[in-house]
Amino acid sequence: MKQKTDRSFDGIAAKFSRNIYSSTKGKLRQLVLLRDLAELDVLHQPCQILDVGAGQGQLALALAGQGHSVHLTDISAEMLQLAQQQAIEQGMAQLTFSQIGLAELAATHKQQYKLVLCHAMLEWLAQPQLAIAQLRQLVTPGGILSLMFYNKDAKRFGNILFGNFDYVAADFQVKKKVSLNPQHPLAPQDVLHWCTQAGFSVLGKTGVRCFHDYLLDRTLQQSQFEQLLTLELQYNRTEPYASLGRYQHLLLRAD
Ligand SMILES: C[S@@+](CC[C@H](N)C(=O)[O-])C[C@H]1O[C@@H](n2cnc3c(N)ncnc32)[C@H](O)[C@@H]1O
Repeated sequence: MKQKTDRSFDGIAAKFSRNIYSSTKGKLRQLVLLRDLAELDVLHQPCQILDVGAGQGQLALALAGQGHSVHLTDISAEMLQLAQQQAIEQGMAQLTFSQIGLAELAATHKQQYKLVLCHAMLEWLAQPQLAIAQLRQLVTPGGILSLMFYNKDAKRFGNILFGNFDYVAADFQVKKKVSLNPQHPLAPQDVLHWCTQAGFSVLGKTGVRCFHDYLLDRTLQQSQFEQLLTLELQYNRTEPYASLGRYQHLLLRAD
């Protein structure tokens, strides 16, 4: 059997940028995350933030624009280069960059942060449970981890709705991997369990894209974006919708 490995985005950085960041998916995700983070006390004054698996830094740039300092780390040089380019173009000075994987970062980095971000990375890792324990080491006691991961339950639900029964029956295993499809979608109950085990308490849970991906008429994603966004923001922390979000965003307090 092929060995599981983490997935650096070297080689697919430009494709990722086109397909995700500039789509309604990317816009919606960004606005939901910014709404959730704005409610954290820690961001009510200038804060030093660590972004793990920061990618092209879309969220880091927005937070820097609010006056925070963000240290972006990623295993992919290409992704970080694109983030750095954006920082220069937008004249953002309060961003720093390190090309380093999470395991090495947790083992070597001396500093802890009041706010650590780890968004859309866990589902690309070979050992996501270990990653949560490593992230815990980077958060100050009492500090916050903002964790967003790809929700396997939502993936199953969406694929059944669209009639992809064989794919679901095979537990999403296919011979030809689609490069932008996360390789290890995660069951939210597993992630919650790992977080508790690692010493985190859950402060909040939001579904990201609770409706967007299930629309029967996909043209509405773009043509009615503002109305859709309003509904997502209104219901994405209420069950059953929160659990149907294609991504789950957890705000976790380090004990
Ligand atoms: C889907 S992108 C998400 C980027 C960004 N956080 C966002 O939300 O748009 C996942 C990123 O995780 C990075 N990555 C994968 N494994 C990693 C690891 N072990 N340590 C640090 N970064 C990693 C990839 O290179 C990629 O840039």
